[in-house]
Amino acid sequence: MDIDVVKDYYGKTLRSSDDLKTMACCTPGDMPARVKALLANIHDEVLTKYYGCGLVVPDLLEGRRVLDLGCGAGRDVYALSQLVGPNGEVVGVDMTPEQLETARAHVDWHMDKFGYDRPNVSFLDGLIEKLDALGLEPESFDVIVSNCVINLSIDKPAVLKGVFDLLKSGGEFYFADVYADRRLDEAARMDPVVYGECLGGALYWGDFLELAKAAGFGDPRLVTSRPLEITDPDVEEKIGAARFYSATYRLFKIDDLEPACEDYGQIVVYMGGAADAPHSFTLDSHHVIEKGRAFPVCGNTWRMLKESRLAPHFKFLGDFSTHFGVFPGCGTNFPFASDRDGATKECC
Ligand SMILES: C[S@@+](CC[C@H](N)C(=O)[O-])C[C@H]1O[C@@H](n2cnc3c(N)ncnc32)[C@H](O)[C@@H]1O
Repeated sequence: MDIDVVKDYYGKTLRSSDDLKTMACCTPGDMPARVKALLANIHDEVLTKYYGCGLVVPDLLEGRRVLDLGCGAGRDVYALSQLVGPNGEVVGVDMTPEQLETARAHVDWHMDKFGYDRPNVSFLDGLIEKLDALGLEPESFDVIVSNCVINLSIDKPAVLKGVFDLLKSGGEFYFADVYADRRLDEAARMDPVVYGECLGGALYWGDFLELAKAAGFGDPRLVTSRPLEITDPDVEEKIGAARFYSATYRLFKIDDLEPACEDYGQIVVYMGGAADAPHSFTLDSHHVIEKGRAFPVCGNTWRMLKESRLAPHFKFLGDFSTHFGVFPGCGTNFPFASDRDGATKECC
């Protein structure tokens, strides 16, 4: 797919989220109260040009440095700006001038609204496949987010490599995107509308997991997922029997995570302190960790909590000295699996 086709779709064809032909976008009515409160402080023009497919608001961001890949008109940047606070920073990158123009036009309005003396956001014009051309310091971001963009990339391995290079050790890529339940045929992949609607470039989820691992993200964790409804008959005709899911994954940059979940008899206890998780902390769809309660974990989960910004909120019991075999029911999973086993569904 020619990248200019995508640029035109988001810069010229679409005027607002009402022009989309799928139900990929979240509707505020179904969102958690904390996200609604953030969005209530965002300018209407920015909200109108939101084309994301999930929520990218991980916990514990205060004072952190965050990058948003394909930030569009800036809705998520301005939501995250409130979460990182005046001492944190959010950088958005996008390639479509019209989207960046909207994002930049409202910086002062948002800083006034949030009560910040100086902007904690900036918007860069660039390609997410060429993050190293943006002058960003390697290993300088705590968290990288993205909302419905990676599927549009024509070089997904380059994006994942750039993300890996920009993350600090223990940092994470927390992103929502569209996945297919199969590899799509050429006609679906090359159709400009199917592609622009975030379907044609969607990865078969098995291929995504392999790409993520090849880029150094050892144990991708599914946070939420939901099936997408295709509302346009022409698009439906072109995609045939393929089914699509919006899914949010988190990929931690932690060296040498094990290929499977292994049991070393380790336990964590959530101590509380994450503002949005007073009673339980959700790491992913398999790990909702109740405050104050001993929670057995595999070695990879133990390391994700212990070697990331999440560590101060947990107690860690155990070590890696004794191996007790495989840790059942944990680790990497596919969107369709969460539909079947009743794991966390996306709230939008
Ligand atoms: C589906 S929209 C999502 C925008 C935004 N994340 C949101 O939630 O509203 C996709 C955005 O990614 C941008 N984009 C797509 N491919 C890109 C690339 N290779 N490099 C930079 N930006 C890209 C588009 O310009 C568009 O703004």
